[in-house]
Amino acid sequence: MLETIDQLQSQAEAELADVATPEDLERFRIRYLGSKGQMKQVMARLKEVPREQKPAYGQKANALRRRLEEAYQQRKAQLASAAGPEAAAAPAAGRAGARAAPAARGPMLDLTEPGLPPRLGREHIITQTINELVEVFGRMGFDVATGPEVEDEHHNFVALNIPPHHPARDPLDNFYITGRDDETTPATPGSPGSPAALLRSQTSTIQIRVMENTAPPVRVIATGRVYRPDEHDATHYSMFHQVEGLYVDRQVSMVDLKTTLLQFAHAMFGPEADVKLVPSYFPFTEPSAELYVKINLGGQWQWMEIGGCGMVDPAVFEAVGYDPEKWTGFAFGLGIERLAMRKYRIEDIRWLFENDVRFLRQF
Ligand code: DAH
Repeated sequence: MLETIDQLQSQAEAELADVATPEDLERFRIRYLGSKGQMKQVMARLKEVPREQKPAYGQKANALRRRLEEAYQQRKAQLASAAGPEAAAAPAAGRAGARAAPAARGPMLDLTEPGLPPRLGREHIITQTINELVEVFGRMGFDVATGPEVEDEHHNFVALNIPPHHPARDPLDNFYITGRDDETTPATPGSPGSPAALLRSQTSTIQIRVMENTAPPVRVIATGRVYRPDEHDATHYSMFHQVEGLYVDRQVSMVDLKTTLLQFAHAMFGPEADVKLVPSYFPFTEPSAELYVKINLGGQWQWMEIGGCGMVDPAVFEAVGYDPEKWTGFAFGLGIERLAMRKYRIEDIRWLFENDVRFLRQF
C-alpha cells in the first residue's frame, strides 16, 4: 500500500515538471488535489489498509499531499511571474504603438503580483520524538528532569559505579574538556583542580543529580544530548540524544520495569509491538538487560535493540545517600535517534543533523 503512494508521487512530480501553461496547471490541480482527485482517493483507501500499517500510511499520504500542494503553489507563482511582464506590456504596446517588448529586458517589477506563499516552519523530528516521549511517560506519571551537558567525572562515572580504570572512562572514548591530574584518583566534585570536566557520555548522569536532590520515591525521565567521539557513518554520530528513566520506590521489581517498557513500546510503535529483555551488564544496574522492541518494518516483524535497563545497583543508591535496604528501583536509557529512525524509516543518522530543509520538511 505504501508503494502506491511512492508511485503516485513520482507520477505527479513527472507531470508537474511538464506543466507549461496555467491550463496545464489547473488540470494538474484537479487531477491530484481536486475534490475527486488522486489524493482524495489515497485518503479514502486508508480504510482498506491493514491496521498496523495505518499510521505509516496516513503519515505518508499527508506528507505527499503537503508536498504536492507546495509544489503546486510554487509552480503557480512561477507561471504568474513568467506571464506578468508580457501580460502587462501587451495593451500598453498596442496603445503607444512603439514600445519594445519588456520581456527582452527581463521581468518588470509588478507590485500587484501575488507573493510567494511563506513556508511554515516545524519542529525537528528529534524534538517531535522527545515531545512524544515526554507525553507517553508523562501519562505513566514520570516527571521530566534535566542536567548539564558539561559534566564532572563524579556524575558521569564515579557515582554510577564506574571505577577509575573502566574502559568507559578512556580519554579516547570521551570528550574530556579539562585533563585529569591523576588517572587513578576518582574525581571529587568541588575540590579544586581534581575533577575533570567532560561532555556527558550518557544521560545516566541525571539519575545521580535527581537522587542527590530529591528524597525517594522518584519517578522521572530525562532527555538530552550526549557526546562520544565516534566516527560519523550511517548509524554513528559524535552527538546524539538519549532518554533516561528512573523509578525508585519500595519493592520495585523487574516486572514493573518490563511493564513500563511494554506500555511505552505500545504507545510509540502500536499495540502489536512487543519487548524483550536480554541479560547484559552495566555497572549501575544489577541485574542489567538490553532492551529489544519488536516492530513492524515494511510488513516484517523484527527485534531491534534500542537501549539498556536494569534494577538500580545498591552501590548507586549508596553514592547518593539512599538506603539500599529500604529502596529499590529500575532505570533505563534509550537512544532517541534509534527510536526516531525506526519509527520514521530514516536510514542515515547524518541526515538528522545536516539541516537540509528538503529532508526536514518531510516530517
Ligand atoms: N547509560 C547507558 C549507555 O549509555 C544506557 C543505560 C543502560 C542506561 C542501563 C540505564 C540503564 O539507565 O539502566 O549505554
